Amino acid sequence: MKTSIALYPGSFDPVTNGHLDLVERGEKMFDLLIVAVLRNAEKQPLFSVSERVEMLREVTKRWSGVEVDVFDGLLVDYARKRGAGVILRGIRAISDYEYELQMALMNRKLEPRLETVFMLPGEPYSYLSSKLVREIAKLGGPLDDLVPPIVGERLRGKIS
Ligand code: PNS
Repeated sequence: MKTSIALYPGSFDPVTNGHLDLVERGEKMFDLLIVAVLRNAEKQPLFSVSERVEMLREVTKRWSGVEVDVFDGLLVDYARKRGAGVILRGIRAISDYEYELQMALMNRKLEPRLETVFMLPGEPYSYLSSKLVREIAKLGGPLDDLVPPIVGERLRGKIS
């Protein structure tokens, strides 16, 4: 049963098959799943926000209940603006837990009506991250099974 609007926030630099696995799971649970790309991250991204959004839109276009958007500032403010009651985040391993717990509890303090829901990605994605994907691409390693083909092409183009 689907009942609400959820946000799936992140940097998505770039989107990986692990992110898509979570989108697929989230899309089944919520009426609308908004993949929300943070605009003003402090870290230096490999892809610009518009490049990341373009790739995300391309690889999520098969799901009618998925939208891709950009947000600035506090996630809780964006959630209020979009009428979202849930933040969806993936936890791959125990090492993710501490950071995710801190964020979830802080978001709860800032907006008690907003719930964070954690989902486990499929096992093949439990060691996959955008950071490792960027590193493998920079060092010329194979990207099959890690990112969708169009993202692999964009990575190759960016690096070469
Ligand atoms: O993919 P990431 O980089 O782990 O995603 C982190 C993200 C974007 C979810 C987080 O940095 C965030 O929500 N930033 C928005 C600013 C904010 O609300 N900060 C307080 C969070 S407790």
